[in-house]
Amino acid sequence: MNIVILTGAGISAESGLETFRASDGLWSNHAIEDICTPEALARNRALVLDFYDQRRAALRRVEPNPAHAALARLDRAWPGELLIVTQNVDDLHERAGARRLLHMHGELMSALCEACGAQAPYGGAMLDGTECGACGVQDMLRPDIVFFGEMPYAMDRIEQALGGADLFVSIGTSGAVYPAAGFVQGARHAGAHTLELNLEPSAGSYHFHESRMGPASMLVPAWVEEILAS
Ligand code: APR
Repeated sequence: MNIVILTGAGISAESGLETFRASDGLWSNHAIEDICTPEALARNRALVLDFYDQRRAALRRVEPNPAHAALARLDRAWPGELLIVTQNVDDLHERAGARRLLHMHGELMSALCEACGAQAPYGGAMLDGTECGACGVQDMLRPDIVFFGEMPYAMDRIEQALGGADLFVSIGTSGAVYPAAGFVQGARHAGAHTLELNLEPSAGSYHFHESRMGPASMLVPAWVEEILAS
């Protein structure tokens, strides 16, 4: 059986990372378009770089939670095809041990050179200006984050995985942002069974065959034990 798992900010909430649309969330005192767009980066580079410097620093202070650990366990044990598609830019899935993973919205711990397009691991602050390790150009590094209006990464691979999925599981996402919010329909169209694990009903809950409500740190380990025992 082939499994595709979509994760969102809710899977990292119990690790201490803010989600986007909660009342006290990441966007609570920022307008998304003031930060997470190419125009914002061009208009107010220091503000955007500082926002991501702060999130990168916060990431070093948190740990994966039992939901990340359970998905990593499933990844290691599952004999069929499995792909974790995360909308998250944190590295908690990797730090929990997940391997069959892709970041469709980019990664906080990666830098993108606007001069040559190179992506490279990056853990420091970008505000003080740095040079690209590939082309050597100064001050052209940006967070390797897919901004609104930009194309998410690996869409071909994601569409291909959804086309062959027997089971699609969505964890900790509000279903507010496309194309990720439409993956459940693609999976259903391909004949997959669809399961939502979330704290509360998402915008797309009605598309799922089954929805379980609760914290990811409880729901995900229970579901992984269930599927490994099946
Ligand atoms: N366990 C499970 N689900 C949770 C938990 C938890 N402990 N805490 C919150 N949630 C759920 C919320 O109920 C909500 O439905 O996680 C979801 C988080 O939704 P958002 O904050 O909208 O985050 P996400 O869905 O990942 O946003 C998608 O939007 O801003 C862009 O690029 C950004 O990747 C992000 C995308």
